Amino acid sequence: MKIPVLVVGGAGYIGSHCAKALADAGYHPVCFDNLTAGHREFVKWGPLIEGDIFDSALIRKTIQEYQIAAVLHLAGYSEVGGSVIDPVRCYSANVGGTLSLLEAMRDAHCSRLIFSSSGAVYGHAAPGLIPEQTACSPVNPYGASKWMIERILSDFRTAHPLNTINFRFFNACGADPAGDLGELRDNETHLIPRAMMAVQGHLSDFAIYGNDYDTVDGTAVRDFIHVTDLAAAHVTAVASLLRGHSGGTYNLGTGRGSSVSEILTAIAAETGRAVPHTVKARRAGDPPSLIADPSLSKRELGFTARHSDLPSIIRTAWAWHKTRHPAARG
Ligand SMILES: NC(=O)c1ccc[n+]([C@@H]2O[C@H](COP(=O)([O-])OP(=O)(O)OC[C@H]3O[C@@H](n4cnc5c(N)ncnc54)[C@H](O)[C@@H]3O)[C@@H](O)[C@H]2O)c1
Repeated sequence: MKIPVLVVGGAGYIGSHCAKALADAGYHPVCFDNLTAGHREFVKWGPLIEGDIFDSALIRKTIQEYQIAAVLHLAGYSEVGGSVIDPVRCYSANVGGTLSLLEAMRDAHCSRLIFSSSGAVYGHAAPGLIPEQTACSPVNPYGASKWMIERILSDFRTAHPLNTINFRFFNACGADPAGDLGELRDNETHLIPRAMMAVQGHLSDFAIYGNDYDTVDGTAVRDFIHVTDLAAAHVTAVASLLRGHSGGTYNLGTGRGSSVSEILTAIAAETGRAVPHTVKARRAGDPPSLIADPSLSKRELGFTARHSDLPSIIRTAWAWHKTRHPAARG
């Protein structure tokens, strides 16, 4: 029998890629999503339970009915800029939603969880690679909500049986190489899809924020990890928890940084068109550089990013993007 795994947020960008990877690895992914930001058609490898993470009773029932062995928690509010403007919404969705999920897991006696944390927990870290033991000092409510949840999970673990892997994702990007899935949002805030919309003429006001950082070319530097690699890490983590791994906190990144300008150059190379953009002032809450030290997840989980070179990221993202956003101009 295939081992059932609950993917909360399974109709979203990262959750749907995880569900596909779980199915490919022989698991039975059961997706739970309220479809506020997810897509019904992204759930192709198992059932979709349409519901809200705040409906603790429905999650408990789902865990019991499907005999869920492990839970991936990928639902929540993930707009960094929006979290500065509307912190209540961010904390409520992320912290409140996680408490509801934990209540359901406790009541249904499900004790394996993989939580989608973020590199945003580190805030303005010192330049260079960021290892997990770096003191967390988030600079926006989004990062703070992720850091709070990590603390809550630790407290929960003291009181109840729970083995948790916290994955601190750096910048998720790219699309399923087979073209089944990709990034698709009503209100797109992420750099790569927005730059591609600008190339197509869909965005007349595409801006990058800050060209006066102390970085290689003045623009902010991030660690971009392909969503297929993130999904593979989740499959590895599920197997690890099932083997008895007691949990831990791991960066999911590549150890390489790319600047915003380098991303725009790579998009121009792939699409054959320069990315039209303006440069605006730095945004509050944006650190100059965030690059993961990926060595702990490699050492303890055996995970290495294999699809996260910039050309593969941009190629798969553009192949997906073109199918979902027909060009506005030739
Ligand atoms: N995309 C990134 O670069 C990135 C980086 C670091 C961390 N993360 C985290 O990874 C997780 C997934 O990110 P994503 O980019 O796939 O986001 P996404 O918005 O594409 O997916 C989130 C999914 O959760 C669902 N959802 C939201 N609120 C819900 C609720 N109350 N009940 C049930 N379902 C709900 C949405 O409908 C959506 O399908 C988020 O927690 C995000 O903070 C993402």
